[in-house]
Amino acid sequence: MAKIKNKIKTDFETFAFDYDGLIPKLIPHYREQNQLMVDLIPRDRATSLRVLDLGTGTGILSYFIVKNFKNAEILALDLAKNMLEVAQKNLAEYSDRITFQQGDFAECALGMSYDIIISGLAIHHLENPQKQKLFASIFQVLKPGGIFLNRDIVLGATPALTQQYEQLWRDYISSNGEDSDRWFNNYLEQDIPASVEEQIQWLKEVGFVDVSCHWRYLNFAIFGGCKPNSTIKEPLSCF
Ligand SMILES: C[S@@+](CC[C@H](N)C(=O)[O-])C[C@H]1O[C@@H](n2cnc3c(N)ncnc32)[C@H](O)[C@@H]1O
Repeated sequence: MAKIKNKIKTDFETFAFDYDGLIPKLIPHYREQNQLMVDLIPRDRATSLRVLDLGTGTGILSYFIVKNFKNAEILALDLAKNMLEVAQKNLAEYSDRITFQQGDFAECALGMSYDIIISGLAIHHLENPQKQKLFASIFQVLKPGGIFLNRDIVLGATPALTQQYEQLWRDYISSNGEDSDRWFNNYLEQDIPASVEEQIQWLKEVGFVDVSCHWRYLNFAIFGGCKPNSTIKEPLSCF
């Protein structure tokens, strides 16, 4: 696992300065997903929000948050220093509302009391038990009523569907003039996606409510849940 983590870090350190130009050619409906991540946050645009962005990369989701929520403050966490360096440049205008932090979200302390936790194309790098552990940590560090939204690469509900989606995904990459063999091999080497169905189950198991897949296109999805306002269990029958 440490080997995969090192490869992920090295790849993103190398890839950082080309990421913004390349990623819409690799991820279908990338720009549409960015906007939808914000539209799915049912909060007044003027409200104060504490936000955690897991796997910030070059900062696209943090950008959509600070641009749309004038009083949002963000902790932007990423493994790769160069990705954060690009994020810092991209978000220079909003630097007073964003803290950039290098770290591994599977290992470091995430802080406390967030209204919103977002993640984009990052959690699929973890093994499934680590994903489950991270979902539990996310639940813990959200405020009651807080929201978790994840846009990620996922598996199909069956191996046959995964295969079908992956072929269509490769066609998308080729249609943009990119080398689909290169990117697909990269995916096979370092990505560990899980199906939406199982991740929704894991979110429910750690206590999230209003859990759903909000958007999906082939092997890409936006899903998440809400921490209940009260985590106190229903009264026992003696009351
Ligand atoms: C594909 S980029 C996504 C960037 C951005 N969130 C987006 O939606 O475009 C994935 C990012 O997650 C980061 N990442 C992967 N695993 C991580 C981990 N365990 N802890 C922190 N960051 C991680 C990578 O360094 C990379 O910058």
